[in-house]
Parts: sequence; C-alpha cells; structure tokens
Amino acid sequence: MAVLQSRVDVGGEAFRANAEAYGRMRAEIAAARDMAVTGGGDRAREVHASRGKMMPRERISALLDMGTPFLEIGQLGGHGLYDDDIPSGGIITGVGVVSGRACVVVANDATVKGGTYYPITIRKHIRAQQVARENGLPCIYLVDSGGAFLPLQEDIFPDEHHFGRIFRNIAEMSAMALPQIAVVMGSCTAGGAYIPAMCDETIIVKDNGTIFLGGPQLVKAATGVEVDAQTLGGADVHTRDSAVADHYAVDERHALSLVREIVAREPGAAPVGPPLLPEDPLYDPAELPGIISANPREPIPAREILARLLDGSRLTEYRERWGNTIICGTGAIGGFPVGVLINDGVLFAESAQKAANFIEICCQRDIPLLFLHNISGFMVGQEYEAGGIARHGAKMVSAVSCARVPKYSLLIGGSYGAGNFAMCGRAFGPRLMGMWPNARTAVMGGEQAATVLSLVRESQLAKQGKPFSSEEVEAFKQPIRNTYERSSHPLNAAANMWVDAVVDPEDTRAWLALALALAAGSPKDDTRFGVFRM
Ligand code: COA
Repeated sequence: MAVLQSRVDVGGEAFRANAEAYGRMRAEIAAARDMAVTGGGDRAREVHASRGKMMPRERISALLDMGTPFLEIGQLGGHGLYDDDIPSGGIITGVGVVSGRACVVVANDATVKGGTYYPITIRKHIRAQQVARENGLPCIYLVDSGGAFLPLQEDIFPDEHHFGRIFRNIAEMSAMALPQIAVVMGSCTAGGAYIPAMCDETIIVKDNGTIFLGGPQLVKAATGVEVDAQTLGGADVHTRDSAVADHYAVDERHALSLVREIVAREPGAAPVGPPLLPEDPLYDPAELPGIISANPREPIPAREILARLLDGSRLTEYRERWGNTIICGTGAIGGFPVGVLINDGVLFAESAQKAANFIEICCQRDIPLLFLHNISGFMVGQEYEAGGIARHGAKMVSAVSCARVPKYSLLIGGSYGAGNFAMCGRAFGPRLMGMWPNARTAVMGGEQAATVLSLVRESQLAKQGKPFSSEEVEAFKQPIRNTYERSSHPLNAAANMWVDAVVDPEDTRAWLALALALAAGSPKDDTRFGVFRM
C-alpha cells in the first residue's frame, strides 16, 4: 500500500489566494445554512412555542442519544426555490442514533407554512425513506403538519413519487420489518393522517396532537356541524375511542421517551464499528481549500485530495500506470475500507475500462465504492469515436448501474454530462451524494453550452442570409452562461435535492465515515452485471 506524498507549497502565495477565495464560497453556503436552520418567521415561532411545543430541531436533539451526531439529509432543500421562504423545505430529515440504534428521523416544521408539504417537502420525505430502506433503518416520524400545500397540489399529489409514495413506503418498510413509528405532536390532517394511521406504532401528545381525515373547517362545510379539533381527533379520542394511536403522551418529552423505549425493544443491529483502526491522514484536510485553485479552469490535483481524505494517506492503487485519467484504488476512511475512484482528467476508453474492472473487483469483495467527481466528460473527436469511446464508456456506466455494494458520490469539482453518469450521479443510486462548495454540475459547462447554442443560432441565421456579429454572439451567450452558473451551483443542486448535502472539504472525512458506518451494518445485496459491450 503506497503512502501518497504531497507536493503542495502549504502557506505559499497561491495556497493563500486559493484558501481566501474558498472562504468566500464557504460564507455563501454558511449564510444559506443559517437561514435553513432558523425555521419559520419570528411570529410563527412565537405562536408555536406558546402552544408548549419544541422546535423541530430541539425535538430531534431530545430524541437522539446524547452526544451522538445527526447526519442531516437535504438541509438546504427548498433554498430559494419558491416565492415564500421554506427553510429546510419545511421538514428536517436525517439519520441519528436512538437507544443505540441508527434510525431515520423525519420531523415536520410547523413554523413553516403550518408544516404543509411543498413539492420539495415530499421529495425530502421520500428521500429520507429511501435512505432508511437502503440501509435497513427504522423510521421515526415527528408529525406536525397541515398536509398538502394546497396551492401546489398538482406538483405534490398525482404522480408516482408524490404524496402517496410516502404511505406506500411506510407499508413496504413495515413489511421489511423496519419499524415505522409516528409521534403526533401537532396537526395531522387529511392525507397526512395516514402517516400515524399506517405506522406500526403511534404516539399522540395530549392537547396539541390531532389526527383527522377532515378538519373542523371541512366538517363544518360538509355537515354544518361545529366541532373543535381536540374533540374531533385529539389524544383522548384516538387512544380511548378509535385506537388510531397506541400511546398517550402527556407532553412532547414524554412522547420522545416513549419512542426511545419502543426502539430499544425492537430487535436490530447496533451501529457497526470500523473493522480497521481509524487513522488521520498524514496531511491535514484543513489544507484542502488551499490546494483547489480559485480558477475553476485549473485542474484539481487528485492525489493531493486523496492524501487528505484517506486514512494514513494510504492507497493501494489499481493499474497505476494505465488509463491514468482516473485513479482507482482501495484505502480506508475512519477505519472503514472503501474503493475510491477519482477523476484526473477527461475519461478515455482505457480509463473507462479500468474503472469498470475496478468496480467489478469491489463488488466481488464487498468493498463500498466512493466516486469523487471532477469530470468534464468523455473524450470527444473523430479518433476517439472511431476507437469506440461510446462502447467503452458504456461498460463503466453499466458497471456503476449494476454494482450493489453501497455507493457514495461526492462532487469535488465539475460533474458534467455523461461523466456524471459514469461517476455514479444521482440517477445511479449513490446511498449518499454530496458536493463541495466549489463544485458544479450540469449537462455541460456554461461556456460550452453558450457556444453550442450560438453555433446553432448562427447556422439558422446563415440559412436566412442574416449576419451574426461578434457583439450579437456575445449578447446571446452571456445569459446562457449566467443561467448555467446559477443552475450548476451547489446551492441550487442542494435546493433541488440533486445532492443530499453541501459538504465542506474539512468535514468530508467525518461525513463519509458516518455514511460508511451505516452501510457496514446494512444487509448485503448480490451484484449481477448485465452484458458488457466488449
Ligand atoms: N395549504 C396551504 N397553506 C396552508 C395550509 C394548506 N393546507 N394549511 C395552512 N397553510 C398556511 C396558512 O395559510 C398560513 O400561511 P401564512 O403564514 O402565509 O398566513 C400558514 O400555513 C400557517 O397556518 P395557520 O393556520 O396560521 O397556523 P396554525 O398553526 O394555527 O394551524 C394548521 C396550522 C395546519 C393546523 C391549519 O392551518 C390547518 O388546519 N390547515 C388546513 C389543513 C388542511 O385541511 N389540509 C388539507 C391537506 S390535504
């Protein structure tokens, strides 16, 4: 196993300039995070607290084992997506340890539009359930929601991955013996009522918890009868008369302690420790921002990155001297073995074949895969087309698609076009996907898109015998560049849940170690590859 050697002039002029530029990117992400964790406006938070309710993040802290981390998924979901501010997409989701067992937690934030479900809220809820399913984890739903955000019903109700999928997931995961536990801490209206109704076990909190298919307003409109929310569907009704809920809690803390008791008595594995001794890298991950050039056109030195991410900076490299625009090798993070693929240039036929082979090896040996994206795409040009680059690239995409070992993706630079697919982009099922603040992702770079579209325009105009002056070309290109810069930015990717988190380089090892720890305890799945185009 080779120890990677760093050649960076740490503290030199270039290093300092890069680190400074990186600081600005970090600040932008930090500002978005601050907005996300604050929840709804002051007034909504005051009203919430006046009802004796904890904020959703306080509920989660009170639920989790003391001193254990919360691996948050989609904290920036919804950021800037709608006319209204929807901090954290109105729902907080992630993985935490409850009574010694890793669990997925889904907590509505009633201070954000009454905890109603926007499209991104649904996306986050379903994503959290997917994480539970893939890693074999119980789900705990801390429910406090007015159900569907009615003005956007078209984008949340009818389709395959809309509201109904939440309930189907509960039923299917219950059938997989993954405990589904609901705590009704506020409103649970209409479709939302099916969350507690479908869970294996439901707790309801006195005074604030309500469950009903039609709220007091609807009952009045439909039948003319006036009834208050507690009489219609409060804790007394549901624990004494209807049995829609199983446990009566006098307050929120009592409810959360009941969840901890329920989880404690469920059979299931405790989180798994690392099989190897965890070791720090030889080089400090805090140096990473200084080695990523402030100029995004300059390459990112792949080995320097690995030297700061892998335990002991050690890598057993696979085919070091061949197909070297991708580096493949095995190492460890936090004591968990991992097969790493990191781009070091454009993908050629050799690099794609090497990567496909390496993925096969990791699948045979049950080694989780980590894809570090820094890729503009596959090599183009007549020579390469004639050499069958599409066929060789397809081998890599096929291997990535079929690999059933846990896969993780982290965008450390660009992640464009088919390069994103080959490196296990979102569509290829990474169990967790993150992005550094400097990273970008799109079908192609903004400059390339602007050039392609301006050439198309130029040929259209030429057919009409019209000129396309260089000033007109520039005026045509700039808005395209702007659109691409905005849409490929980590804040936009995270807002749309194309990635689960924007991860700071310095926090990356901890984030990956948590992800690998989850996978280590999860059920194994056999890989069966399809036909490889030889
Ligand atoms: N769709 C869209 N917006 C909704 C909503 C819904 N289903 N339910 C509540 N809101 C909005 C309110 O208009 C309000 O918006 P504003 O802050 O811009 O004024 C905000 O959410 C908070 O609602 P409010 O009624 O002031 O808060 P509350 O804490 O007293 O009550 C609810 C929250 C959810 C219990 C209550 O609003 C309610 O019963 N809503 C209707 C729920 C329903 O019938 N849903 C059917 C879904 S299929």
